[in-house]
Amino acid sequence: MTETPTLELRGIDKSFGPVQVLHDIAFSAYAGEVTALVGDNGAGKSTLVKCIGGIHPIDAGDYLFDGQPVQVHSPRDAAALGVEIVYQDLALCDNLDIVQNMFLGREKRRGMVLDDSTMEEMAAATLRGLSVRTVKSLRQKVSSLSGGQRQTVAIAKAVLWNSKLVVLDEPTAALGVAQTAQVLELVRRLADNGLAVVLISHNMNDVFAVSDRIAALHLGRMAAQVKASDVTHAQVVELITAGRSGNLGPRTTPNGAAV
Ligand SMILES: Nc1ncnc2c1ncn2[C@@H]1O[C@H](COP(=O)(O)OP(=O)(O)OP(=O)(O)O)[C@@H](O)[C@H]1O
Ligand SMILES: [Mg+2]
Repeated sequence: MTETPTLELRGIDKSFGPVQVLHDIAFSAYAGEVTALVGDNGAGKSTLVKCIGGIHPIDAGDYLFDGQPVQVHSPRDAAALGVEIVYQDLALCDNLDIVQNMFLGREKRRGMVLDDSTMEEMAAATLRGLSVRTVKSLRQKVSSLSGGQRQTVAIAKAVLWNSKLVVLDEPTAALGVAQTAQVLELVRRLADNGLAVVLISHNMNDVFAVSDRIAALHLGRMAAQVKASDVTHAQVVELITAGRSGNLGPRTTPNGAAV
């Protein structure tokens, strides 16, 4: 049985000026699954995410969504497909409240005026649907939230817009133990609700706690994409640091050339 991935990338190249950052990347993310994207600092994870989100145009390769080839040239194109990217710091506006953040740029109106009560109800329903209970008031400014609560609002915003694919770039990087556990639980729930979820993390415990699949980038190349249940922590660490582990990863000749 072969399932069509929600997102499939084939042969993606990306350069910044003369520097090629992504080489011939293949990557898939499936509905109902969490796919971890791992790799060392500078491996190209955020660049790949920005290509998925339409911030960086790809130089070459295919971008397929639900099995159909698509052109993604801008964040608007990505959003129209149902792709939402949650960045650690850029996701929210501090001076706005939770509801305002969730509807930023896509406000509901009744005639000429903002339909605050509808927006508040929709925001509340979304947070309830995700079993979020730690937020006291939807009208509190995001600047007053903890890191974990901010991340929760950013994720809820992605869910509110009927996304099909949610990409989380290091959502737990700045969080403590309890908040990390809450965010990971939410990540798992998103996938259990049928979304395709991509999680970037440097923390192997987080990766193994929630992921169904693991994709390891090494120096801008996809070293391997495997089922989490088929690999050990040590193998994933080896893929991240060496680009291969045992029979995982590209086969190379002694001088390092791919065969
Ligand atoms: N806008 C840009 N212009 C030029 N080079 C860039 C740009 N963005 C990223 N790079 C380079 O691309 C490479 C990959 O960076 P990227 O941010 O994708 O890594 P990463 O895997 O997300 O790392 P980290 O774990 O540190 O977040 C780096 O060498 C970086 O310097
Ligand atoms: Mg990054």
